[in-house]
This record gives sequence, structure tokens and C-alpha cells, in this order.
Amino acid sequence: MPIVTYILRDGDRREIDVPAGTSVMEAAIHNNVRGIDAECGGCLSCATCHVYVDASSTAEIPSADDSELELLDGVAAERRPESRLSCQLVVMPAMHGLVVQIPPKQG
Ligand code: FES
Repeated sequence: MPIVTYILRDGDRREIDVPAGTSVMEAAIHNNVRGIDAECGGCLSCATCHVYVDASSTAEIPSADDSELELLDGVAAERRPESRLSCQLVVMPAMHGLVVQIPPKQG
């Protein structure tokens, strides 16, 4: 399975085997990764699943669509070029090596 690494707010790292077809948000929730609130459950309406794709990431990830880009305007932490909504990052084999950072706040 693809491995996704989460960098937590305290700098700890969690490496998780994520089944293909599972979003980065869902994998975080299922594995008790702290800092991704996902209040809307992945319906693309809350922006509390914000992550930063880390510069060390080796994964190929699809670009954000217009709906995700629009909702990223509402994130609580600083929006950066590497900002993504983790509910929209559905893990596929090519995403092995994805590294995401949890932002300092979600809401
Ligand atoms: S979980 Fe709500 S926008 Fe991602």
C-alpha cells in the first residue's frame, strides 16, 4: 500500500499505509492522526482538513480543482502554494511517498 507521512504540529512523524482509494483525510481520522478536524466529513464544505504538501514529498498528486481552490480561501491557517484539502487527496499507488504537514490550526 502507498505510504503517506504526516508531520504533526509537534514535529513528530506518522507513517501510515493507506489503502488505495482512501483519502489522506480519512486515513488520518482512522489512524488517530491529530490536527485534521474534517468537520464536514469530506463533503468539500468546511476547509478543516487543510494540509501542506511537504517539500520532501516524492508523490505525484493531481492538481486541485476549482472547488478545492475556492474553499482553500477559507482555511484558518496561512494559505500557501502547497496548501491542499486532504479530503480531496485520494491516495493512489503513484502517491506513495506523499508527505503532508498539519497546519497550526484548522478553525
Ligand atoms: S473534510 Fe471538509 S472540506 Fe475536507
